[in-house]
Amino acid sequence: MTFEEWMRAVLDRVETALDHYLPAQSIEPAQLHEAMRYAVMGGGKRVRPLLCHAAGELTGAQAASVEAASAALEMIHVYSLVHDDMPCMDDDALRRGKPTVHVKYDEATALLVGDALQSQAFVALTADVLAPAQQAALVRELALASGSVGMAGGQAIDLASVGHTLTRPQLETMHRKKTGALLRAAVRMGALAGTAPDAAAMNALDAYAAAVGLAFQVVDDILDVTTDSATLGKTAGKDAKDGKPTYVSIIGLDASRALAAQLRADAHAALAPFGARAQRLAELADLVVNRVS
Ligand code: IPE
Ligand code: IPE
Ligand code: MG
Ligand code: MG
Ligand code: MG
Repeated sequence: MTFEEWMRAVLDRVETALDHYLPAQSIEPAQLHEAMRYAVMGGGKRVRPLLCHAAGELTGAQAASVEAASAALEMIHVYSLVHDDMPCMDDDALRRGKPTVHVKYDEATALLVGDALQSQAFVALTADVLAPAQQAALVRELALASGSVGMAGGQAIDLASVGHTLTRPQLETMHRKKTGALLRAAVRMGALAGTAPDAAAMNALDAYAAAVGLAFQVVDDILDVTTDSATLGKTAGKDAKDGKPTYVSIIGLDASRALAAQLRADAHAALAPFGARAQRLAELADLVVNRVS
């Protein structure tokens, strides 16, 4: 199977799983469920589910287990996007090529869509397709990655940093939390959905995931200045306009590109112990760094 064929097959399964784990639109309150589906379905690159599937394949995870974990990861990710776009945060009107949730509906709905997606993620993770011990392990991974020591904490640093220059270590910490943590969790959760890897294998996967997670936000910062809104599906040039500290604003475009390439090499190096079994993870590191949107 080529990488493109593998991706298509996984993306199909992810779409089906999201549809399965989201409440039906007909269930009351219908407008909230419609808005949750508006935010989640049929859009986005699904990078976190792809990483989760690739790691799950490495540890022999059942398809249904990885699907539940992937749905949970994507719901948390979309919740973070819906809130990130709100006027009190980045105030963005365009996401995944469509009006953002607070623009399409209203701010209260956007707030509740985020709240409800966060809860629904943990409903998916406690589905009986996962053994009880796995449920507990995955819940903990996702909760830590999305809370105040992970994504939400990174978002707090991001907002507190507007108009300030960060040192490079501070910038790295912010990026590792706001974006890296959930990508790292995607790999770890995929692996834990299968036969739990030994400590050495988990450390290798973790090193891979940390590199890919940071690379992802470095590339997001690059794309904000190099790509147009139509390609991105979100408003380009927003970071500079808002006075956000980014890799581009702090180390410049060329050094940012060099860093992304270095992190890609670090990710590949971390996979060495797995040999050809880690091919999909290696290809995903390339995708994250070479993507154009
Ligand atoms: C955008 O994430 C926000 C960041 C964490 C940088 P993605 O680039 O994964 O957004 P979608 O899911 O493809 O829309
Ligand atoms: C967002 O970072 C990170 C999260 C949503 C957690 P950005 O604010 O850079 O994401 P985009 O560029 O709006 O997608
Ligand atoms: Mg933001
Ligand atoms: Mg934003
Ligand atoms: Mg961005």
